Amino acid sequence: MAPAFRHPAAPRSGLGVPPGRRGESAASAGSVADSPQAFSLRLFAAGLASAELMTCFLGLELGLYEALRRTGPATAARVAEESDLDARAVREWLEQQTCAGVLTVDEPGAPPEARRFTLPPAHAEALLDADSPNWIAPLVVMPIGGMAAVLPQLVDAYRGRRGLPYAAYGEALRGGQAGLNRGVFEHHLPGWISRHLPDIDARLRVPGSSIADVACGSGLSTLALARMFPDAEVHGLDLDEASIRDAEANLAATDPAERLRDRVRFRAGDAGDAGPAGHTLVCVFDALHDMSAPVDVLRACRRLTAPGGAVLLMEPSVGERFTPAAPDSERFHYAVSVLHCLPVGMSRTPSAATGTVMRPDTVRAYAAEAGLDTRVIDVGHPFHRLYRLTARPR
Ligand SMILES: C[S@@+](CC[C@H](N)C(=O)[O-])C[C@H]1O[C@@H](n2cnc3c(N)ncnc32)[C@H](O)[C@@H]1O
Repeated sequence: MAPAFRHPAAPRSGLGVPPGRRGESAASAGSVADSPQAFSLRLFAAGLASAELMTCFLGLELGLYEALRRTGPATAARVAEESDLDARAVREWLEQQTCAGVLTVDEPGAPPEARRFTLPPAHAEALLDADSPNWIAPLVVMPIGGMAAVLPQLVDAYRGRRGLPYAAYGEALRGGQAGLNRGVFEHHLPGWISRHLPDIDARLRVPGSSIADVACGSGLSTLALARMFPDAEVHGLDLDEASIRDAEANLAATDPAERLRDRVRFRAGDAGDAGPAGHTLVCVFDALHDMSAPVDVLRACRRLTAPGGAVLLMEPSVGERFTPAAPDSERFHYAVSVLHCLPVGMSRTPSAATGTVMRPDTVRAYAAEAGLDTRVIDVGHPFHRLYRLTARPR
């Protein structure tokens, strides 16, 4: 999983290593240690950012940002009325959000009840507009609602040397995951397939062609593929039954004029025992690294693929090797791995225990074991890369 937004080089804060120290060699990595005071300041910044992120989660979940967008500049009483919440609690949140730089206030010196708060349009876009390339709400929802919420279970899982199943992370994780990749599937995937897999693109424009979307999650990639290729049938499969219910609901919500319901099918099940073969394209998006048996799944994908077809992976765009001077995108992938992907992969046994930071050599090795050749496709995205896998002649 990864954010679709386009600005990975955000100002460094929280636990970030000071910019002057970035890019040092692993041999000198010991020198990044700070004085106790500097390190505690970094932890303070991280703690503050985490706490403020939780307040943003409240704003999203309680509809406070939506209310502020509807009202325009408004007092606490007005926002409370609009969101059907307690006025005193809402005033505290409005003041806090203002100090955090999310909202602005007209007259800070006015009596508390008379102060009017505003959600600036740029912030409203980033928080509320799912179609904007700057939409970042899933990155608030997923870590707070999806990961922080299961921390006690995660502590137990680590202590018990076990994993934690995907289903344990609940709706916020599924929604955050879907939201994070939504823009990629809707805006980038069509161009990536036509530019980097032109032969497959051409074959999918022929009636009777089909696609398997393995580990489809909430089905947004499945729907995007069906829109991209109006002549193809698209089959989404996922182990997680709640994700398949989300996918069915997303399909049901599509405009009947698109006629997607005739060509899209979802099914709950294990990728290892996927259904009939003969697909021109078999996709596994942002999921192989989560799987306990990635080689078995790739073998199944190979079986599902029609002669001349391809298996397409989308996986994190991580470096070839471990380095302490990892870019922010890789720090993000590591954090997600510790909190989610590795425990999920380890929740079934035996497990390859891959984790989010699945490097190209690991993909090549898994693919080779499954009888597939690997072509790495750099699509120039800060968080994702593609791998085209093709069956080796037997
Ligand atoms: C990080 S989510 C990615 C979902 C979706 N492809 C996306 O990009 O939003 C990983 C998905 O892999 C699914 N998954 C993991 N192991 C699986 C397996 N063996 N068979 C089918 N699905 C699996 C999980 O249920 C989960 O929905």
